Amino acid sequence: MTANTPITVARGDGIGPEIMDATLRILESAGARLDIEEIEIGKAVYERGIPTGIEDSAWASLHRTKVFLKAPITTPQGGGFKSLNVTVRKTLGLFANVRPCVSYHPYVETNFPGMDLVIVRENEEDLYAGIEHRQTQGVVQSLKIISRAGSERIIRFAFEYARANGRKKVTCMAKDNIMKMADGLFHRVFDEIGKEYPDIEQDFYIIDIGTARIAARPTDFDVIVTENLYGDIISDVAVEVTGSVGLGGSCNIGADFGMFEAVHGSAPDIAGKGIANPSGLLLGAILMLNHIGQNDVATKVHNAWYKTIEDGIHTGDIYDEGLSKEKVGTKEFADAVIARIGQTPAKFKPVDYGTGGGEGLKIPPLKMVLVEDKKLVGADIFLDWEGKPDTLAAKLRHLVVDGLRLKVISNRGVKVWPDGQEGTFCSDHWCLRFIGENVSHNMLLQQLSAISGAGFDFIKVENLYDFNGQRGYTVAQGE
Ligand code: NAI
Ligand code: MG
Repeated sequence: MTANTPITVARGDGIGPEIMDATLRILESAGARLDIEEIEIGKAVYERGIPTGIEDSAWASLHRTKVFLKAPITTPQGGGFKSLNVTVRKTLGLFANVRPCVSYHPYVETNFPGMDLVIVRENEEDLYAGIEHRQTQGVVQSLKIISRAGSERIIRFAFEYARANGRKKVTCMAKDNIMKMADGLFHRVFDEIGKEYPDIEQDFYIIDIGTARIAARPTDFDVIVTENLYGDIISDVAVEVTGSVGLGGSCNIGADFGMFEAVHGSAPDIAGKGIANPSGLLLGAILMLNHIGQNDVATKVHNAWYKTIEDGIHTGDIYDEGLSKEKVGTKEFADAVIARIGQTPAKFKPVDYGTGGGEGLKIPPLKMVLVEDKKLVGADIFLDWEGKPDTLAAKLRHLVVDGLRLKVISNRGVKVWPDGQEGTFCSDHWCLRFIGENVSHNMLLQQLSAISGAGFDFIKVENLYDFNGQRGYTVAQGE
């Protein structure tokens, strides 16, 4: 008899406790060998005045077990609260979010029999860095951070996942027609890394048409790898298209930790009613069983679940007069799965995860990045200011220091001077682009000092660099 695996469990908010209870009862009945440590996270913790939604004792448990089965939690909107989900993912280095989206035709109503795709979402970077600033009366910014290392790691993970799971194709989605640098880097890294996986078919979609295709022709896809925000959005689209958001399970994987959960949230609209579908969390728990090497139990649970679905025992979210036999609540659904442990489905293909498991994916080390020659060529100095572009340019004329020149003024990314056009809306957020030869930090400090000394409120500076003679910044629209 193998030893029990310690895991950390959080029952979460809303429907969380109901679906966690159902899931744990099923795991126990199937003989899962678990030592459960329970932690409290989410709403109750926020309400105790802890803005992270998680206490030190909970972190200690996570560091002990390194395996987290987590029910959804309610994130307070706005205020000083940070999303606990994002905090946990980033703190534990859970860089890959894997979301299988499968349709269960003909037992669950779907337009797409045969849909079976996996979304591999980058889980730490992008706009979810959550670095935001209010810079003027009227303008806030949210920084989108994409790193080469982060992109390489998730893209390698997607290819390794495809190989390990007998998948044929990896599709990358991004928006590099607009975000040439950030999404351009992600796309370029995909092309580079893809060369190391010639056995896997590869293609690329701009995220907008990619999302539309997932909604209209999801069977075109196999594994999809994408950035954090796009992955968040398309995984809700994809799982909804399978029949219900309640059917999506997901895992968050890093080098040392794994977190397993449902795709959906805490569903406050149906909380406490006993009608939520526990399948998303249960399918997440099956991924956990594979992760900790209890493939035998994963097989039992998954087959019993398939059998329940094909026997037409359905929660309200997937209940359909024509297809379903019995409409059940959360608890009754769990009872039905428990009653079928040891059975295999007759119509769905039974799963067999074998006996091993727990090795996880071996991700090849990141490649050395070529160090390119980096040269300071200027700076974008941002101002909080109200007025007309030509007036601003006139005021600045005598403030430009030796060795620099004011090349362009832009507002919200569009050029407004020189030769601005009537009709371009100007906010109070201005970007002055100074360019020069042999630019030094000291010249930029003098420039800032001159601008500040003339009474302007500068709100930030972005240095401009060339890398190996190539521009490391974008030009303004219309520049
Ligand atoms: P949601 O996913 O909780 O609910 C969306 C809709 O789907 C609702 O109509 C809900 O009733 C239904 N639904 C969701 N799960 C279901 C299930 N298992 N069975 C039957 N119906 C189900 O998304 P919403 O309403 O946008 O977010 C609610 C809260 O959850 C928010 O505070 C949000 O921040 C949080 N959230 C937490 C997540 C997590 O902890 N991983 C993920 C997503 C949202
Ligand atoms: Mg989401």
